[in-house]
Amino acid sequence: QAFPEINLLGIHINLGIGYHSEQVEDMVKELCERWKVPLFVYNLPEEEGFSIDDFVFTQFKHKVCSACGVIKRYLFSVVAKRLELDAIATGHHLDDALSTMLNLFFQGDFHSLVRLSPVLPPLSEKQVKKVKPLFYTPEREIIYYAIFKDIPLESPRCPHAEGVNIPGKKYREFLDFWEEKNPQFRYQALSVFLKKLFPILKKTAKREEEVFECKKCGEPTSSPQKICSRCRRVELIFNIKNRVLEFSNEEEAKKMITDKEIEILDVDALGLEPFSTSRRRLFKVLRPFRGKALLLRGKDPAKTYYFVLKLRKLGFQAYHLKGG
Ligand code: FES
Ligand code: ZN
Repeated sequence: QAFPEINLLGIHINLGIGYHSEQVEDMVKELCERWKVPLFVYNLPEEEGFSIDDFVFTQFKHKVCSACGVIKRYLFSVVAKRLELDAIATGHHLDDALSTMLNLFFQGDFHSLVRLSPVLPPLSEKQVKKVKPLFYTPEREIIYYAIFKDIPLESPRCPHAEGVNIPGKKYREFLDFWEEKNPQFRYQALSVFLKKLFPILKKTAKREEEVFECKKCGEPTSSPQKICSRCRRVELIFNIKNRVLEFSNEEEAKKMITDKEIEILDVDALGLEPFSTSRRRLFKVLRPFRGKALLLRGKDPAKTYYFVLKLRKLGFQAYHLKGG
């Protein structure tokens, strides 16, 4: 252990993303057991009665990842406070820091730039400080270390990540380009930011930043309406009465869907792949079923369920018919 004097606790948030979240949770549990790090699991659907998948019923259906980011940040903060932790550590590395920095810089979002610091003091006493212990470590070195220590590098792919632009991806290419000419480039860029630009930004940000208490959850927010972004998003979900995406069998589906004609589709027979089939092809194949409620079944439950999520985002009323 690199920091024997620190008491570490793993925090995992199960976001209730059908099939995917369970896989990720198993992986996290295994890793924590291996490293003998105690783990705290927060199960979002059990604790709060909604899941990240529920965003497919809202206007955030094309931006599930960004809504998820807001919920996760909120939960880490709330859970850390509840557990009376001193700090939350995240795995952001040097490449993350620099690419986000460039991205924000060219968007002119100087306000968010200040929040990129490796140690982020809490906005109010209700929060816990955030630290990024890998802030000065390039991604490449983390990868070498992980290979050396036999740590799995890839987690199962999140079904909502399809087609999502990774912010700052083009800036990573930019960093690689400059590093070829100057091997010190990454460190120099970071040092200029932290030593020169950051202090100036911090001074102005202090003047501008006003923090309120969210009227619903009590967490700090900069919104003058005093409702934080997490609460605004969660409210949208709770305004939807019927948030069903799966049925155990046909009878159950028929009982629930009374206002529409039902069509049962076999995903394998149609030869559709949840991630790789283009939207165009999907619209073409599914055109005859438009306006109907689609019950999807397939050999692989996870794959079929991810397909349901995809179709929901495209405006189809689709459900997963469990049991194939
Ligand atoms: Fe949040 Fe994929 S992990 S949307
Ligand atoms: Zn709130």
